[in-house]
Amino acid sequence: MPTILVTGANRGLGLEFVRQYALAGWRVLATARDLASAPELQALAAEHTSVVIAALDVTNEIAIKHLSVTWKDERIDVLLNNAGWLGGRAEQSLDRLDYQTFEEVLKTNTFAPLVMAREFLPQVLASEQKKIVVITSGLSSMTNTVRFGNLYFYRISKAGVNMAMRSLQADLRDRGVKVGILAPGMVDTRLLRNSGYEGPGVIDAPQSVSAVMGHIKNLDQSAELILYTGEQLPW
Ligand SMILES: NC(=O)c1ccc[n+]([C@@H]2O[C@H](COP(=O)([O-])OP(=O)(O)OC[C@H]3O[C@@H](n4cnc5c(N)ncnc54)[C@H](OP(=O)(O)O)[C@@H]3O)[C@@H](O)[C@H]2O)c1
Repeated sequence: MPTILVTGANRGLGLEFVRQYALAGWRVLATARDLASAPELQALAAEHTSVVIAALDVTNEIAIKHLSVTWKDERIDVLLNNAGWLGGRAEQSLDRLDYQTFEEVLKTNTFAPLVMAREFLPQVLASEQKKIVVITSGLSSMTNTVRFGNLYFYRISKAGVNMAMRSLQADLRDRGVKVGILAPGMVDTRLLRNSGYEGPGVIDAPQSVSAVMGHIKNLDQSAELILYTGEQLPW
């Protein structure tokens, strides 16, 4: 039974990853910032003995280290960095540029996946598949950022994590690790609703997750930016 670790598993895409991987017969190590307010995740864990849950705020480096010790004997086939934060729209508007928000967005979206990779590397290396994945965003593409700007902090954080994961792939290639940089599309979750986007092309979480799971399954060591449709996006 392969094992996946999912961050931000209490709602949105993270919760759906837990559901679909559990149904596919995986052991799922599901983490969420506040387990007390994660009733749907608790229900999944009650339903599937293969779902193990633990509290984790990904911005807390010490907590990541502790959890890695708790799970030191696990073999983690896929380390899935899903947790992410948009940051408030007003706080990252050009006339505000609130630095504290910038720091929190970077800590959550860019720094945390790297720390997760460092702390859980032994468990990934001990596994069969050896995959480290980040859920990035199409908004990270510099080439595609021509029609509308805005969401400065979020875009910067996702472009940054793309580079972090590409560097990670270069560093860990010889050890057999495969790194995925996957964009889930515009998915109907709280994050998208908070972004203010009201245009077409929105998909639901089950559709996005099953497509992304297909890309995780077929991951190689190219570490390109791949949309849920399979399209390779320009950096
Ligand atoms: N929805 C989209 O259209 C879209 C598009 C592109 C990329 N993405 C990416 O997809 C990923 C999942 O987002 P979503 O769409 O499912 O949004 P969501 O429903 O807002 O979920 C975000 C998840 O991240 C968690 N999280 C945020 N900060 C955290 C922290 N410090 N520690 C632990 N967990 C934290 C949240 O937990 P709390 O409940 O505790 O806040 C929540 O579980 C994110 O990386 C996002 O950037 C989404």
